Amino acid sequence: MPNPLASLYPQHLATVRERADRALALGGFDHLLVAAGTPLRKFLDDQDYPFVVSPHFKHWVPLIDAPGSWVIHTPGNKPKLVFVQPHDYWHVVPEAPRGYWVEHFDIVIVRSFAEAVAQLPAGHCAVLAAASPGIDGVTANNPQLVLDYLHWHRSYKTPYELALMREASRIGTRAHRAAEAAFRAGESEFAIHLAYLAAARQIDAELPYASIVALNEHGAVLHYTHFDRVPPAHNHSFLIDAGASAAGYASDITRTYAAPQAAEFQALIDSVDAAQQGFVAQVRPGQNYAELHVHAHHVLAGVLREHGFLHMSAESAVESGVTGAFFPHGLGHPIGLQVHDVAGFQQNERGGTISRPDGHPYLRMTRMLEPGMAVTIEPGLYFIEMLLAELRDKPFASDIDWARVERFRQYGGIRIEDDVVCTSGAPENLTRDAFAAG
Ligand code: GLY
Ligand code: MN
Ligand code: MN
Repeated sequence: MPNPLASLYPQHLATVRERADRALALGGFDHLLVAAGTPLRKFLDDQDYPFVVSPHFKHWVPLIDAPGSWVIHTPGNKPKLVFVQPHDYWHVVPEAPRGYWVEHFDIVIVRSFAEAVAQLPAGHCAVLAAASPGIDGVTANNPQLVLDYLHWHRSYKTPYELALMREASRIGTRAHRAAEAAFRAGESEFAIHLAYLAAARQIDAELPYASIVALNEHGAVLHYTHFDRVPPAHNHSFLIDAGASAAGYASDITRTYAAPQAAEFQALIDSVDAAQQGFVAQVRPGQNYAELHVHAHHVLAGVLREHGFLHMSAESAVESGVTGAFFPHGLGHPIGLQVHDVAGFQQNERGGTISRPDGHPYLRMTRMLEPGMAVTIEPGLYFIEMLLAELRDKPFASDIDWARVERFRQYGGIRIEDDVVCTSGAPENLTRDAFAAG
């Protein structure tokens, strides 16, 4: 069967080249040099941290294991890939590039980082690279106006990129199903994590972010990345936030499950799930993301009231900061080559910042939604003692049912997270489509 990516890639590359042409023109540059990056060495050691390729590099080519390599773009010329394939019998060396995309590049294979640098052109270059060992002889300048232009336009995904994000969602949902089965079988967080990795067929270092696998009250630790080796005495609930990668594109998926006897928690999950689907339906052109986030606070206040946690109005729950204690993170963020993708606050292609609404310090996206953008929608409700304690001596504390809050602490919290593409019509829910197809 022909690889569908083969027919999508030429248009993707043409788009990336056009954007690069315009970014270079802004700064009067002759060439764009994009480093894959080099591994980072551990202090006083002979071991490296896992290599993480630059997002700019993997925007051009579907290569994630290419340390020391470079893409060279000169307007009007076929792009060039300088690919490092060391003579090395200690390690598996990166395979020579092959596949649907290689015909679109002039490819030069070299044996060392220094040989790669020697291939770089002279002239006025925009050099996108992290300062790191192995790029001696070239100076990264990361021109802000070039980055601002490229980052802004990276928000608009090409059909090729969306195909890879669908694949990342398929891998992630397959692994989520395996994790749910391990939870239902009473496994430990560690064993659930291993089941997830096995089903994804990805190792930790390949995932777009560290998985959160949280049983019971651990769900209240927003970035819980510890894995208990033994199962808890009682299973009440399970929150898993875990993604997968496809050629360097991310999925970011969260699901929350109740144990069979925890009907009251299942009912709360169902309400958050219904609210989440309502927010997803509003991923439409012209929707301001920050306003959607504030709207989510109002809807979640209603959920807290309906389930007997609050007696105050939704308005006063939002204004007094009560919803902020139960929902203390942002509604979501841009996603793509990075799990928290660039340009969530950017004003326009020349930079600038759209600030967050007051009182919402963790929101990662304030832009207006437009067709081609991909964002997560991830509302949550948690029972976090540290944040709830701040409400206990407030005048409105008597409007909170503390006994009910206390009983729900055993469940930790709820988050439901989907990856959603804004189109000119109905939103495309990458996550739910993948769950439904699998
Ligand atoms: N897993 C990180 C996030 O949801 O943003
Ligand atoms: Mn997320
Ligand atoms: Mn997540």
